[in-house]
Amino acid sequence: MKHAHIVGWGAYSPERVLTNDEIANWVDTNDEWIRARTGIHERRIAGAKETTATLAFEAAARALSVARLAPSQLDMVIVATSTPEHVFPSTACRVQDYLGAKRAGAFDLSAACTGFIYALSMASNAIATGQIETALVIGAETLSRVVDWHDRATCIIFGDGAGALVLKGSDVPGGVLASVLRSDGSGGNLLSLRGVEHMPVPTLPPNYYANGHDSRAIQMQGRQVFRFATRVVGEVIAEVLEKADLIPDDVQLVVPHQANGRIISSAAKRLGMPEERFFMNLDRMGNTSAASIPLALVDAIRQGRLRPNDNVVFVGFGGGLTWGASVIKWDVLPVPDERTWQQTQWRKARYVWARLRSRLRRFGRQVGARIAGSHIPEASLKDADRRPPDP
Ligand code: ACO
Repeated sequence: MKHAHIVGWGAYSPERVLTNDEIANWVDTNDEWIRARTGIHERRIAGAKETTATLAFEAAARALSVARLAPSQLDMVIVATSTPEHVFPSTACRVQDYLGAKRAGAFDLSAACTGFIYALSMASNAIATGQIETALVIGAETLSRVVDWHDRATCIIFGDGAGALVLKGSDVPGGVLASVLRSDGSGGNLLSLRGVEHMPVPTLPPNYYANGHDSRAIQMQGRQVFRFATRVVGEVIAEVLEKADLIPDDVQLVVPHQANGRIISSAAKRLGMPEERFFMNLDRMGNTSAASIPLALVDAIRQGRLRPNDNVVFVGFGGGLTWGASVIKWDVLPVPDERTWQQTQWRKARYVWARLRSRLRRFGRQVGARIAGSHIPEASLKDADRRPPDP
């Protein structure tokens, strides 16, 4: 059996910072309440030219760079998201195209804020069974496009961003040791989003619909979700540790879904683990749903919170209801990115070539169709035009 090791990581956060004070300009709330009840100080909001796919691409390109892997070496691309631009093509296919990952399978995975754990588990199992050798696992969201900016119970929580991990199979034991995935569909009404009906790119302060309830936006029964989360986080961490034959004292770092600081404190108490062992960055990022765990992990790596042979637990919970956890033996040393100027240019050129190649293929199909006497209508894949500059 192979072992799925994390060999690359990358994150991308949009530039626009939205503070609590700004939100308080249009809903009845204040910085003090938001900080005390959630732990959030500010969040990032995607720009008009950014989409879930473009954020995912930025994070993915960085992760591949750390892994020193070419996109053509990827076997699988999974994007965990609740905010795909289209039902199909999947966001993962958009990313596969942007990267030029020409021999990779690609699909989206929907498990709300637990999506990243589900995706990591799917990819590591596929590696363990020998079906694939390498996988790119991404969590990416543009929640700002599906939030009711006049609903103070939800608009204060969510943010945009993307995080990505590269997994690679090896005979050396370690990497992803165990995962536990759970769900309870009876609680689906507690946290829901109707469809992929993106609202217009928000202008902040919002001005696109009247003050009041918008059934297209995220609906959340916050208090019930809070109760559910405090119960399952501790439970599922205990379960996954048992599966990996570990105890809480063996764990050096927990990277939880960044939903609410009070949920994390309560889970830490239940497990008898010091709260400092739970990594938090929601003060700066808010709740980025499926993107929150990889975004927090990359921050933790940057801050030197992970050392070789540490055991790290990822734990997620959210809409569905869904929840899950993975335990990982952190056995890779961060490789310093000592690239020469030429190597950096070559990497950039590769993505420019991927874009060009994609356009040529589309053009080729159009020409082929005309010759055959038929016609392919122009697809309205908006995000193809919204793509920001290559990294
Ligand atoms: N500012 C000021 N007051 C507010 C705000 C606000 N932004 N929001 C709610 N209030 C008020 C309420 O109206 C209520 O007032 P009332 O007592 O007069 O009726 C009071 O504050 C308390 O409201 P609660 O909803 O009980 O507040 P709570 O302490 O539970 O905090 C919160 C709300 C932050 C949403 C919390 O319930 C929470 O974090 N829940 C979990 C959310 C979560 O974890 N989601 C994760 C999954 S996300 C996914 O899967 C996409």
